[in-house]
Amino acid sequence: MFNIISYDERIKNFDWSISEKELDYQPGNVINIGWYCSDRICELGKADKPALIWEGSQGQEKRYTYNELRLTSNGVGQFLRNLGIQPEDRVCLFMDKIPELYIGFLGVLKIGAIVQPLFSAFGDESLIVRLDNAQTTAIITQRKHAPKVMKIIDKMPYLKHIIIVDADPSKPLGERQVAFDMDNAVKPDNFEIHPTKAESPSVLHYTSGTTGQPKGVKHVHYSLISQYLTAKWVLDLKDSDIYWCTADPGWVTGTSYGIIGAFSNGVTQCVLDSGFSAENWYRFIEKHRISMWYSAPTAIRSLMKAGDEVIKKFDLSSLRHLASVGEPLNSEAVIWSEKVFGKAFLDTYWQTETGSIMISNYPGMKIKPGSMGKPFPGITATVLDADTYEPFDGPGRIGLIAIKPGWPSMMRTYWRNEETYNKKFRNGWYLPGDRSSIDPEGYFWFVGRDDDVINTGGHLVSPFEVESALLEHPAVAESAVVSKPDFVNMEVVKAFVTLKPGFVGSKDLDLEIMNFVRKKLSPLAMPQEIEFIDNLPKTRSGKIMRRILHAKEWGEEIGDTSTLEND
Ligand code: PRX
Repeated sequence: MFNIISYDERIKNFDWSISEKELDYQPGNVINIGWYCSDRICELGKADKPALIWEGSQGQEKRYTYNELRLTSNGVGQFLRNLGIQPEDRVCLFMDKIPELYIGFLGVLKIGAIVQPLFSAFGDESLIVRLDNAQTTAIITQRKHAPKVMKIIDKMPYLKHIIIVDADPSKPLGERQVAFDMDNAVKPDNFEIHPTKAESPSVLHYTSGTTGQPKGVKHVHYSLISQYLTAKWVLDLKDSDIYWCTADPGWVTGTSYGIIGAFSNGVTQCVLDSGFSAENWYRFIEKHRISMWYSAPTAIRSLMKAGDEVIKKFDLSSLRHLASVGEPLNSEAVIWSEKVFGKAFLDTYWQTETGSIMISNYPGMKIKPGSMGKPFPGITATVLDADTYEPFDGPGRIGLIAIKPGWPSMMRTYWRNEETYNKKFRNGWYLPGDRSSIDPEGYFWFVGRDDDVINTGGHLVSPFEVESALLEHPAVAESAVVSKPDFVNMEVVKAFVTLKPGFVGSKDLDLEIMNFVRKKLSPLAMPQEIEFIDNLPKTRSGKIMRRILHAKEWGEEIGDTSTLEND
């Protein structure tokens, strides 16, 4: 029996008040995600239920019940308040997938401050543009990541506190640093949670665009209404589930469903904080008896690559429901998962800006492998003609995905960038920037992005950011960054580079430039291939035509080149 009784029944007369009622939320009242994810679950009688089971890369384990989640996040809130952090101040979480990241997230929300999660593999350049834009007041991090912050500290007068969760008591702390041992801190039983309301800001996630700096997507506490119900109906979270969301909370899946959706539904969730290996993942499922598994196509393709033999070594019979997000889930992957796990991965489509699942396959619904499924009840989605921004008359045509604004977890703006936010709407529709078609039965079939953003292994990389980093290397004169096809990651970053006089392309220079980008930005943004060329294709007005380079990589028609400079 699934939580969503029948998709067709649920879309009739759907109202978000269904979720509000389940959460005992009355419009106009206080709503705080931190409280809903810990205190409320204790009030429902599940204080002693395991909330978080964490396993580190050395096999070490930590467990927290819902009551420990409540008390420890109270401790975080108290500590931050004592430091003088005010409601709506931005507090960045810059950590690996350690318990402090999950608990810190709730603690920051409990005092009404805004959580800014950033991927711990980010280099100093990725860090500074995001901290600068948010004017972040405090950052919570680990000893091993602190040097990246200290490198840029002089450029960040607004950053008052660098909170180290694993400080070495025998070593002096650096400038603006303060030690905070979350497990052993004071944990008040009675903690005054800030009375945030529906529209109070909660999470600030950064996402990449084609041009310009990364955009800070602002969410509010009311997003819970969408996140709770989608987690319940699509991920089918039940009291008895042991849930594993493989995403890192540096990205939206890891917060919307790796924290908020999971804990507000009161499930036990497991976190594995170590690198990918098929054997290790299957062992983890077997050991913890994982029943619900939310992952991503790149991981699934990597598992496919590891082969079917390894699966036979493990007892994976606990798995009852699987879902995927982040990039196109090819039909082969769906069919394979059905064959080897006895369950198909259900594709779900959404993005940082939408805050929760928009289009998806539902438990119990007919699945068409390769299709993203249908809009969540309460979500009106269609595809628009790219020229007129009007919906097509009938099914089958490829157009721009468009969603009617108004669901609870929709972003409220891009932080200090209202202009770009406004550009995301046309004729009363929100445009996520993706292309799709809809078949006669209302299933969406993803076609591709409508911009140059590269989706590598489910992570969006801005060609602009990589090009800017490349230009800082002393040998690089010009650069153009596009995607190239890849079996596992779907696409990876490729850079075309022209060199300054006196430099010659070589394997060593190639590696040096790759490393340079990896350190500045992140391993995800590092080009997997660099091609040294004499001239980049440009328009007569001097704009680099990435389109031509992209077409070459993908073996596609180059199209109209009438504006090409060197034609
Ligand atoms: O292009 C779509 C792709 O990932 C983008 C959103 O990326 P991000 O904001 O980082 O959030 C990822 C996790 C929610 C989308 O605009 N994308 C996401 N899900 C799918 C997808 N592409 C194809 N199929 C999907 N299921």
